[in-house]
Amino acid sequence: MRPPVILLLLGFLLPASQTFAFKANDFKTCAQSGFCRRGRALSARALAAGSSWRFPYSIDPSSILLAPDQASFTASVKSALYPEVNFGLDVRLHDDGVVRVRMDETGGLRKRYDEAANWALVAPPSISRDIVWKVGKGTVHAVYGEKKNIEVVVEFDPLRVTLLRDGVEQVVLNDRGLLHMEHFRTKDDTKPVTIQDGEGEAQTTLQLNNRAWFEGEEQDAWWEETWSSWTDSKPKGPESLSLDVTFPNHRHVYGIPQHATNLSLPTTTGPDAGYTDPYRLYNSDVFEYLVSSPVSLYGSVPLMHAHNAKSTVAIFNAVGSDTWIDVGRTESGTETHWISESGILDVFLLPGPTPTDVFAQYTRLTGTAPLPAHWALGYHQCRWNYVSSDDVRSVQRRLDDENMPVDAFWLDIEYSEGHKYFIWDKKNFPDPVEMIKDVEALERRMVIIVDPHLKRDSSYPVYKAASDLESLVKPKSGSGEYEGWCWPGSSSWVDFFNPKSWDMWVSFFKTKSVDGRWSWTESTENVGIWNDMNEPSVFNGPEISMPRDNVHYGGWEHRDVHNINGMLFTNQTYNALMHRSDPPKRPFVLTRSFYAGSQRFGAMWTGDNVGTWEHMAIGIKMVLANGLGGFGFGGSDVGGFFGNPDPEMLVRWYAVGAFSPFFRAHAHIDSKRREPYLLDEPYKSMLRDVLRLRYAMLPVWYTAFREMSATGIPILRPQYVVFPEDSEGFAIDDQFYVGSSGLLVKPVTTRGATSASVYLSDPQIYYDYFTFHTYPAPAKKVARGRTVTVPAALHQIPLLIRGGSIVPTRERPRRSSALMRNDPFTLRVALSSDGSAAGEIYLDDGEGYGYTNGEFVWRQFGAETKKGGWGKGEELKIWSKDWARQGGSNDVVVYNPANAFANSVSGVRMERVIVVGVGSRPTVVSVNGGSTVEWEWQGGIGYGATTESKAGVLVIRDPAVGIASDWQIAVVF
Ligand code: NOJ
Repeated sequence: MRPPVILLLLGFLLPASQTFAFKANDFKTCAQSGFCRRGRALSARALAAGSSWRFPYSIDPSSILLAPDQASFTASVKSALYPEVNFGLDVRLHDDGVVRVRMDETGGLRKRYDEAANWALVAPPSISRDIVWKVGKGTVHAVYGEKKNIEVVVEFDPLRVTLLRDGVEQVVLNDRGLLHMEHFRTKDDTKPVTIQDGEGEAQTTLQLNNRAWFEGEEQDAWWEETWSSWTDSKPKGPESLSLDVTFPNHRHVYGIPQHATNLSLPTTTGPDAGYTDPYRLYNSDVFEYLVSSPVSLYGSVPLMHAHNAKSTVAIFNAVGSDTWIDVGRTESGTETHWISESGILDVFLLPGPTPTDVFAQYTRLTGTAPLPAHWALGYHQCRWNYVSSDDVRSVQRRLDDENMPVDAFWLDIEYSEGHKYFIWDKKNFPDPVEMIKDVEALERRMVIIVDPHLKRDSSYPVYKAASDLESLVKPKSGSGEYEGWCWPGSSSWVDFFNPKSWDMWVSFFKTKSVDGRWSWTESTENVGIWNDMNEPSVFNGPEISMPRDNVHYGGWEHRDVHNINGMLFTNQTYNALMHRSDPPKRPFVLTRSFYAGSQRFGAMWTGDNVGTWEHMAIGIKMVLANGLGGFGFGGSDVGGFFGNPDPEMLVRWYAVGAFSPFFRAHAHIDSKRREPYLLDEPYKSMLRDVLRLRYAMLPVWYTAFREMSATGIPILRPQYVVFPEDSEGFAIDDQFYVGSSGLLVKPVTTRGATSASVYLSDPQIYYDYFTFHTYPAPAKKVARGRTVTVPAALHQIPLLIRGGSIVPTRERPRRSSALMRNDPFTLRVALSSDGSAAGEIYLDDGEGYGYTNGEFVWRQFGAETKKGGWGKGEELKIWSKDWARQGGSNDVVVYNPANAFANSVSGVRMERVIVVGVGSRPTVVSVNGGSTVEWEWQGGIGYGATTESKAGVLVIRDPAVGIASDWQIAVVF
């Protein structure tokens, strides 16, 4: 985190025009990290050895133990390098076909950290009792799947695990023989060993350095590691884990967020490598990050998807320590190499076979994002800092004066006295509860920052309580409190791995003190919380974080849990907010750091970006990648955190924000004020229009959130997710679909643009959302997609509706989303090239948990032309009916369409139905087989058009039908 200029000025003067640059020296490269160096050297040795490379790890066939029901098996694994060391393998198949492979050192000097999956997983997945493992000669294998076309083969010698579909290899573990679990040893471990030669026959007794062919000549950084001015004491010695994962038939891999890079990951090895270092997963406070880099950023999700036109598969490597991942390309596939500092091998193979299946498989493991509070989908106004209660009130007033909708006002760290979170700086915020209530009076919310570092001041009740409970992270000695430097100066960190801290954290967020414990009485039950700096960021620590030899609950070193640490903080904040009221309201928590499973606890943002066009563009890819990693509720700081974007950039950036699941403007303390009302015309009106567009589309966003919360499918869907068979779309990451709505957007991220090229995969008609200009389906069925040019001057957003979609909106401008609660709806019916359309809407009270008991409205819209033409007497029908899909463990509860929420909105109507692609003037429009309604036809071409032109549009006014009721509109020609 870059300190404010005021702090820098104490040391030296900044040049008049600030430059922003990634501080490469603050972070290690692979070559500067002992275990990564060892891992990469291992793969270099294997490459050099070619086919003569020996794989040391093998299964002892006599040790295979099938579970009584044959649904899983365990076995002993031996390493030819260290025959005296034992490893245990455990392989199981889940009900949904996911394969879990675990390997741990058994009976060793110490225990390896084996709890990463416990934190990531929602519940222990159920093992399939229908799938039976069979022990064969040299393998254990299982065949499964509806068509019995999936097979997992575990080979004994060398140990190798292969997942096949239809006889085609999908994923192979240890295909290249890089598997290596550095066992715990003592410094003088030089005992002779026995090793098998390549044929598995001759026995040779070797000394330690005879393992050099595999482990290298030196004990490189085994027992201590110095980097920059820090020394890592490494009390446990070497314990890293190396695993190669090959996708022999997939040339595109995605995921492993968070990196500022393309969605389809560039390679890091081989002659044409995109980067020279591996991708790194080590949660770090990297401000002003590079826009194309494998460097680790704030969050880590060790999940990688591999995709080709016939299949998507994935692997989830549940490890919480520093992890580097090399990606290389072969002629037909992709080779990856995962090198982790510590932990056990705990890998899940997700068999797909479609992207949608992989999302379901992954979120069945780590959970889906809960449905957020509805207000959280509105516009968030933030800055470091709104400096006083009156400042907050004035920003609210000025947005209102300009009729600019907003749902949340944020307070950064300067609200607190001396950066003691929860404690108000009463000089500037003399009346915090009144201020919050002034915001809430207009049905908006405040979001206030609470960081994980606590000022070491015994008069600070929060620190005092945590210290008294001995629930702070310990230094390497294992006793006392670790002390580091952060915003408040000398600080300590709550150890959220310690269950004692959980109850304490709950008590802090209560708005009334319970049992005399300190709690945040100067707050309300509606305040949302921003958890920042939770990598954790430590200004004077190695790589701006904690020393790896710090000690957490259970005696685990920080190195073991580093990437999980940030998630536990948001987990507990989320939990605390849940306990704040009875009945609970949906908590809102924003996190900077995250791990697999963090999606269960709120939203994320992409950290300290810079106000440049490149950062605007990369933010889109990062949010897309995060969605693939299960964490779809994300966004980037609109406007860029650092710098002073000019009005053109700001207008474009608001359009990016309006099409991000999380839409927040934020700015560094040294940047100029840039609230939307400060812009001159015409920019100010453009921002107002963009904000209103977001609000008009809230029904689309909320419906997409529902789907994500039920199925794990991300809200922003990249091209390959929607069209998995179209290889032309596999590398596209600058346009995306919003949920299942059929809306396709390509935000403009370059200066001076007047048009944008949009790629369309499918032979379907598309319409411009605003002008109804048509982009017809190709006349003949073609194998490939096409690129169309869409107008994109500054006041325009390239936004298309795919033919066949029905999009619900609310178009009355309001000041906040809550004020739209009873507003009528508009439906845009975009006819497909065969004259039909479908869509849906999901609504609930947006705040409580009634929806989990069936309190919601979930409707399906449809449209169909009777004979597919406009001839006399022909008919177009449009209808709304209750969504029949009900039940299912990973979907919405069974519900009663006449529930209390549905009844409460029974008076909310459809004020307009706009049918796009109507090629001739109707004669009559009637509702529910009876009364005729007002309509207007704006002439243009129909859905079957073959040339670009303006579509004919039928606008049906106030058909007097309700959003929560069944209806049918008949249009007769
Ligand atoms: C770092 C965060 O990334 C940034 O958004 C915030 O404004 C500062 N910390 C100050 O809290």
